[in-house]
Amino acid sequence: MSLDTLLALAAAGLEPWEERHPPVTNDGFRGAMRHLAGAVSIVTAGLGTERNGLTATSVVSLSADPPTVLVCVNRSASAWPLLVRHAHFGINVLAASQQPIADRFAGRNGEKGEARFAGARWIQLASGAPILADALVAFDCTLEERIQRHSHDILIGRVQALHGVGGTDPLLYWRGAYGAIRPT
Ligand SMILES: Cc1cc2nc3c(=O)[nH]c(=O)nc-3n(C[C@H](O)[C@H](O)[C@H](O)COP(=O)(O)O)c2cc1C
Repeated sequence: MSLDTLLALAAAGLEPWEERHPPVTNDGFRGAMRHLAGAVSIVTAGLGTERNGLTATSVVSLSADPPTVLVCVNRSASAWPLLVRHAHFGINVLAASQQPIADRFAGRNGEKGEARFAGARWIQLASGAPILADALVAFDCTLEERIQRHSHDILIGRVQALHGVGGTDPLLYWRGAYGAIRPT
C-alpha cells in the first residue's frame, strides 16, 4: 500500500485494508458456505459387492464438449480409495423424496460401504459404476483427471452415459438442512 493511500485512509478516519479485513478463519468460511444452496448427489464407485459412495454437493458441470463434470472429494472419505482404484464414478442426483439415501451415504446412520446401497435399486451403464435406477438424473463417468488440492481431490469425470427419470423436484441442501424448491 502506498504512502499516499495510507495518508488518504488516515484522513478519512479509516484503517488500512489489512486491519479492516481480518484473516478468514475456517469457521468463518464454513459459516459463509452454509448460504450456498446445493443439489444433493450420491457419488458412487466400485463393482459387485465391493462398492462405496458419499453424499456430495460439490458437483458441477465442467464442459459440454466434451461432456465433463467435476466433484470435490475429501481424501479421508471411505469411498475415496475405490474412486481412485476403479477410475470411474456415478453422479446420482437425488429427488426431494430421496433424503434417506442422502443420510445413508453421508454416514449419518453408521452404515459403511456396501450397506449404504441397501433399500434402493442400482444398475450399471458404460463405466460399471453403480447408478441409482430412480435417480432424478445420473451421470456415468470415467475418471479423466484427479487433481490433489489441500484436503480434497478434484475429480474430473468424462460422461460416458446418462440415465434418469426426471419429472420431479430435486433434493436441496441449505444452511445445514435438506429442503425442496418452493415456488416464489
Ligand atoms: C449435504 C452433504 C454434502 C456433502 N458434500 C460433500 C462433498 O461435496 N465432498 C465431500 O468430500 N464430502 C461431502 N460430504 C461429506 C460426505 O458425504 C461424508 O463425509 C462421507 O460420505 C462420510 O464419510 P465416510 O464415507 O468416510 O463415512 C457431504 C455431506 C453432506 C451431508
